Amino acid sequence: MKGQATFREFKSALCNENKIISSILSNHFKKYIVGPVIDIGSGVGDIANNAFPDTKAYLIDRNEEIVPNLSKNHKWIVGDFLRMGLGQIPFDGTVLLSHVIQYLDSDLEQLKRQINKIRPINIIEVRNDNTGLFWGLITELKKIVPNHNCEVKVDFAPPEMSLVDRKKFTAKLTCRTFHELAYVIVRFIMDATVSARIIARASNVLDDALERPELDIPESVWVHSRMREL
Ligand SMILES: C[S@@+](CC[C@H](N)C(=O)[O-])C[C@H]1O[C@@H](n2cnc3c(N)ncnc32)[C@H](O)[C@@H]1O
Repeated sequence: MKGQATFREFKSALCNENKIISSILSNHFKKYIVGPVIDIGSGVGDIANNAFPDTKAYLIDRNEEIVPNLSKNHKWIVGDFLRMGLGQIPFDGTVLLSHVIQYLDSDLEQLKRQINKIRPINIIEVRNDNTGLFWGLITELKKIVPNHNCEVKVDFAPPEMSLVDRKKFTAKLTCRTFHELAYVIVRFIMDATVSARIIARASNVLDDALERPELDIPESVWVHSRMREL
């Protein structure tokens, strides 16, 4: 739809989640960033650039139009992670999966196979907690938005890895209008096809529930690791 927020605007101007994620990774979770990092579904590459610019990293994304700003230590690879040969990817580093599982879980067995080939020491996963007012509203929106594909918990980590750390945080999504908020939620968070009619209906739901076109999003950064003691 013309005149709507782009993915880049959502991630940089409207929502502060990537700033918080970068800060958690570079401060609290620095010890889990073992190079080379493989950032799967890296998007615009801002998390890698801000959180670990000095660590060797491979940024994989299937969207060739994104063209991230890369640190000199980072290499951008365009491709579908589920289908790509992984010969050029070194083993034994950290895999980062930030808000991408919803795009990879349609073929869970293939996702597991690909992760197994990389044999990461750590996997850092960022996803929405799906709790509170945020999840209440998404539940309402699901009733009127067809073909949604929300982010949910998926067991994809190799069985020899265990969860060793978690940090919760709350991101803020601040839009100029309820229409814009509806578009961002339906298009980018629910990963659904948008139409003028769906956005108008979603906008009404949000306008009824919220004072302003702002929404808190409860999220967590999870760390899976092969190392029991870090
Ligand atoms: C919601 S964005 C998250 C971007 C970034 N990780 C972040 O947290 O800001 C999901 C990204 O995953 C990419 N993606 C989706 N499916 C993919 C796949 N099969 N292989 C590689 N990238 C994929 C999309 O192109 C998109 O850039």
